[in-house]
Amino acid sequence: MLYRLYQPGDFAALYAIEETCFQSPLRFPRAFMHELVASSDAATWIAEDQGQMTGFAIVEWSRSEDEAPAYIQTIEVSPEERQHGIGAELLRRLETSAQAARAESIWLHVDVGNSSAIHLYESHGYQYQGKEERYYARHRPALIYAKALILEP
Ligand SMILES: CC(C)(COP(=O)(O)OP(=O)(O)OC[C@H]1O[C@@H](n2cnc3c(N)ncnc32)[C@H](O)[C@@H]1OP(=O)(O)O)[C@@H](O)C(=O)NCCC(=O)NCCS
Repeated sequence: MLYRLYQPGDFAALYAIEETCFQSPLRFPRAFMHELVASSDAATWIAEDQGQMTGFAIVEWSRSEDEAPAYIQTIEVSPEERQHGIGAELLRRLETSAQAARAESIWLHVDVGNSSAIHLYESHGYQYQGKEERYYARHRPALIYAKALILEP
């Protein structure tokens, strides 16, 4: 498996994974996804096997505030590629990018019923911070998880 940063020609394959992983209204709209992957205050990591995209993940941070928290927008692995450690490796890559951007912590929302994602975050040191009612599509609650990052001096 190859892990690398997003390139502009990746959008179609990336959005095809988004469409497989999430249905409306939980799916990111195409225009919002375009903005995210093009942002200079975000990193999009791609997992690829023999030229085929198998997953991707996006982290955002604040450029204006040093040591501000970074935010995981999403981690998505194609259904047939799950349970092989791709999600975990993408998560590690996001943390490395957040550290390089001087984020002091990293946090995320996850759907209350998304047990595989909750398991992934908990097993990588993310701690439950609380619940946000009506986060997804105004009626599905989200759990908030966060992890402190060790900053290089
Ligand atoms: C959540 C998600 C990203 C996890 O991706 P994944 O690639 O299956 O995750 P991993 O394989 O890294 O880890 C999941 C489990 O797979 C198993 N696993 C990992 N490597 C394995 C291997 N080599 N062989 C067999 N099983 C393995 C483990 O049980 C692991 O749990 P662990 O942390 O206790 O070891 C994936 O389920 C997904 O894309 N879901 C839909 C999108 C989504 O909901 N994203 C989250 C948004 S908040």
